[in-house]
Amino acid sequence: MTNPLRRLRSIKVKLSIVIVAAVATTLAVNEIGIYLNFRAGFRAGVAALIALLMVQLMSRGMTSPLRSMERAATAMARGDLDERVSVTSKDEVGRLAVAFNLMADEIAEVDRQRRDLVANVSHELRTPISALRATLENLDDGVVEPDPVLIATMLAQTERLQRLVTQLLDLSRLESGGTLLHRIRFPVADLLEAVADEGSLQAPRITFTVDVDPSEQAVYADPERLHQVFANLVDNAARFTPDGGEIILRARPYDHHLRLEVLDEGPGIPPEAMARVFERFYRTDDSRSRDAGGSGLGLAIARWIVDLHGGRIRAEQRDPRGCRMVVELPLEA
Ligand SMILES: Nc1ncnc2c1ncn2[C@@H]1O[C@H](COP(=O)(O)OP(=O)(O)OP(=O)(O)O)[C@@H](O)[C@H]1O
Ligand SMILES: [Mg+2]
Repeated sequence: MTNPLRRLRSIKVKLSIVIVAAVATTLAVNEIGIYLNFRAGFRAGVAALIALLMVQLMSRGMTSPLRSMERAATAMARGDLDERVSVTSKDEVGRLAVAFNLMADEIAEVDRQRRDLVANVSHELRTPISALRATLENLDDGVVEPDPVLIATMLAQTERLQRLVTQLLDLSRLESGGTLLHRIRFPVADLLEAVADEGSLQAPRITFTVDVDPSEQAVYADPERLHQVFANLVDNAARFTPDGGEIILRARPYDHHLRLEVLDEGPGIPPEAMARVFERFYRTDDSRSRDAGGSGLGLAIARWIVDLHGGRIRAEQRDPRGCRMVVELPLEA
């Protein structure tokens, strides 16, 4: 039998109804007892029994979510994050149970992400370390002679390790909210020019074009952090753009925002990967097969920084080919 009070949304109202019903029952039973000439003690006993039964019946289910929440919370404290509370009532306890389940979902998701992260980090660190170790063992055994190519490879592996560790530290600092932005107003062309100059040094065979209109357009941001964003975007763009190609860095104000774009002439990002490239350690299959690629942290860092600025970042397909990375930052504080 379902509880007749189940639909009520307030515990106070439920309790009031239960009390009134119990009092009324007691009175009614007492009256009937007087009419049937029962003794006072007997009347009181029967009335109390019936009232108790009724209270039991009516308040059924009112506290069971609390008990099941207690069970679930204990299970979660032990590390079992799958336990949930079944919600039957619409009152405060029922709403608390709903909130509890939401919280449990959230904790389970965070836990899953943490496990993923640890697994990914260990994997990314292990690969270059194993390679380095194998080479060093061969050198130690005298199987190979130290030659400049070998040393350059080992150096590249150490650099990759160092870059990875720096990125991880950056990301954890950003995610823990430990970074404060030092926002100032400065000409966005300065930043894009600096990033383009660095890009030209790294990829001399690619043309970098900075296109800012109006040319003195200012941006309100943390210059160093924003530089990091565009260095990461240009790093990717340069990796995918063929020699002789062009990378465009563009800035245009629109509707209280500044839209900044990095356009390249690479293969672009497949539509199904567009949202996922901003996840930590995500790489498209194409770039996984290329050994030159990084570890998939650059865009995750970029997204954190843009988020901290209250902006948005997304990847788009460029017509006819190439990738367009769009960053939108609010112009005001
Ligand atoms: N301009 C681009 N064109 C095509 N694919 C891209 C482009 N930018 C990013 N990607 C894809 O998104 C993935 C994630 O990029 P991200 O910058 O986060 O990592 P990464 O460049 O592989 O490594 P890291 O930046 O940490 O050195 C890349 O591996 C690549 O597959
Ligand atoms: Mg990158």
